[in-house]
Amino acid sequence: MDIQNSVAVVTGGASGLGEAVARALTEAGARVAVLDTQLERAESLAAELGGIAIHCNVADARSAENGFAQIRERLGLCGIAVNCAGIVRGAKIVGKEGPMPLEQFNEVIQVNLVGTFNILRLAAADMAAREANQEGERGVFVATSSIAAYEGQIGQVAYTASKAGVAGMMLQAAREFAGRGIRVNGVAPGIFMTPMMSGLPEAVQESLAANVPFPSRMGKPEEFASLVEQIISNPMINGEVIRLDAALRMAPR
Ligand SMILES: NC(=O)c1ccc[n+]([C@@H]2O[C@H](COP(=O)([O-])OP(=O)(O)OC[C@H]3O[C@@H](n4cnc5c(N)ncnc54)[C@H](O)[C@@H]3O)[C@@H](O)[C@H]2O)c1
Repeated sequence: MDIQNSVAVVTGGASGLGEAVARALTEAGARVAVLDTQLERAESLAAELGGIAIHCNVADARSAENGFAQIRERLGLCGIAVNCAGIVRGAKIVGKEGPMPLEQFNEVIQVNLVGTFNILRLAAADMAAREANQEGERGVFVATSSIAAYEGQIGQVAYTASKAGVAGMMLQAAREFAGRGIRVNGVAPGIFMTPMMSGLPEAVQESLAANVPFPSRMGKPEEFASLVEQIISNPMINGEVIRLDAALRMAPR
């Protein structure tokens, strides 16, 4: 699908992978809406890019419905939606203090899995109302899974379950939307240098990077954004989750 002149929604767009996507899509000519819970950061990025910023909690139905209503009014129907909003919380199923509190599991599932579905349902409804291009395409949705969906490390049960859920939805949703010309894909990143990672101690960052076969380093957010652009532009990519991990397979811990 053409990125030029499309309305593109990027959740988690105020930071890291989402910010890189918002920059790349703007560069490619899209009109970008940056949705995030960090409104100030979203606003300063949107001002720089000439897009719009909207406070939105992806886990909340009303907040996201309100966000999409604003996007329709201010930019038009979205043709591209990239969901990057996500959180990480580490805890063992049974830790030193006993069983993991259920609320901790729930919080991650709400943001990462329910949040992805919330944006998918609203974006797809708007995409379905757009005019199709020559290929019959009306929209493209890209979700952010993780290689943790396949190789969850000890202490990552909630994150792993949430990202596996995201990966599992892609083919199902692509099938449902095939008749409406909407493609649905996910990216499963390995380790990328974003604020989520740069907060870790340097020694931990170095040991994480050392386990990456080639190139033996963390990915750059622009490399993630470049794959997202390819997914949007290439009509044959559909119902897939693409690993972007430099051959990394996570060890148990
Ligand atoms: N960085 C990595 O190595 C890596 C690897 C695999 C997957 N991922 C996934 O990529 C996505 C982006 O991660 P990142 O590394 O850029 O992290 P990040 O922390 O830099 O960015 C995440 C953004 O999401 C926003 N956000 C969090 N909860 C939200 C909510 N409920 N509603 C709206 N916005 C919310 C945050 O405010 C932040 O701006 C996440 O889904 C993460 O799980 C990252």
